[in-house]
Amino acid sequence: MSCRVCSGRLRPFADFGRQPISDAFVTPGDTREEFFFHLAVGICETCTMVQLLEEVPRERMFHEAYPYLSSGSAVMREHFQALADHLLATELTGEDPFVVELGCNDGTMLRRVAEAGVRHLGVEPSGGVADLAAAKGVRVRKDFFEEATAAQIRATDGPADVIYAANTLCHIPYMESILRGVDILLSPGGVFVFEDPYLADIVDRAAFDQIYDEHFFFFAAGSVQNMALRAGFELVEVERLPVHGGEVRYTLARQGARRRSPAVDELLATETAAGITDPATLHKFTARVEHTRDTLVAVLADLRQREARVVGYGATAKSATVLNYCGIGPDLVSFVCDTTPAKQGRLTPGSRIPVRSAEAFADPYPDYALLFAWNHAEEIMKKEAAFRAAGGRWILYVPEVQII
Ligand code: SAM
Ligand code: TMP
Ligand code: ZN
Repeated sequence: MSCRVCSGRLRPFADFGRQPISDAFVTPGDTREEFFFHLAVGICETCTMVQLLEEVPRERMFHEAYPYLSSGSAVMREHFQALADHLLATELTGEDPFVVELGCNDGTMLRRVAEAGVRHLGVEPSGGVADLAAAKGVRVRKDFFEEATAAQIRATDGPADVIYAANTLCHIPYMESILRGVDILLSPGGVFVFEDPYLADIVDRAAFDQIYDEHFFFFAAGSVQNMALRAGFELVEVERLPVHGGEVRYTLARQGARRRSPAVDELLATETAAGITDPATLHKFTARVEHTRDTLVAVLADLRQREARVVGYGATAKSATVLNYCGIGPDLVSFVCDTTPAKQGRLTPGSRIPVRSAEAFADPYPDYALLFAWNHAEEIMKKEAAFRAAGGRWILYVPEVQII
């Protein structure tokens, strides 16, 4: 396996063993064998891009029944509305502007653009969520974005002023085709804006559950800049975002088209000073992850022995890595509650823990709640304040195991 950006040699640094598709929730009674793959991550010795060592075929992950909904968090709904308003006020002010979103999901961002009457297109291969976007008045194309899709859009709709992708670019291993597609579709002065979990935050917080089938790449300013330069683009802006446990929003433009913000050099310097891609840093990350696994399993085993009731909160894709890597099953966590209709009544992939509705959480409250949706901790703890008031305790495992 070589680097999917530059074909350089990959140096593995963390291995999570056999893992299922993180969003493939199992119907009880379904006897078909689950699909498993080998989840391990490495760094490119040439361009520093951190990436998975095995690629899962895209149709196994993104299809009609893909369950994840962008609108599942109030904070994320506000985040995407603010981004839409920002684009409308800055990049989309010309005559008949055009914005394309890759992975528009249920239309949480583009809905705002549609309401403003601005020309747009969502490219979304997962049919079920694409239908939800269309129902909100969003124009959607049910397709994977890649070079051929970009050429077709360019032929019918003309160039895009903005191409935007949130939590989607890092899901796509075929990066060469994507960047050729962006080159075809983007207007000469346009921008390609994408936001994804930030490698430095993952390493800092030992957030190993950010590593799962869908998260193929783990971007940092350094690796994104190398990737952009190879494809004729330039990294012109970066912005750190607090969402999803720490992300960066990167803006690429054609080389020479835009002035580069000082924030880019500042972030590059921070990454170098912190040594985020140094072998010693990555080795330390792996050691912390192993420690977290051992501590979490010990805490849960102790609670079981004391007959405490433990449930999971948020049947996140991230939780697949935690559950399967740590070997946590229904004997340790009796069920996981989640607001997503398509996950409820199913079993978590691999670990086979029942998923129940959000209402099941309070019926009655458990003694402990293992917070898998820790990236939404503020929103959830506020909403569930009565749980702690009733004596319940949260179990967290990022940046380390804590009971609060
Ligand atoms: N942008 C939304 C957000 O941030 O909440 C959705 C993110 S979701 C984790 C990733 C989305 O990317 C899925 O809806 C999936 O179907 C879509 N996707 C995967 N591969 C894609 C591709 N090649 N082109 C466009 N969308 C893709
Ligand atoms: P995410 O971390 O990938 O955004 O996934 C969050 C999951 O947690 C998703 O399945 C929805 C669920 N969730 C709840 O059940 N309750 C909540 O309050 C929030 C914010 C998310
Ligand atoms: Zn590389």
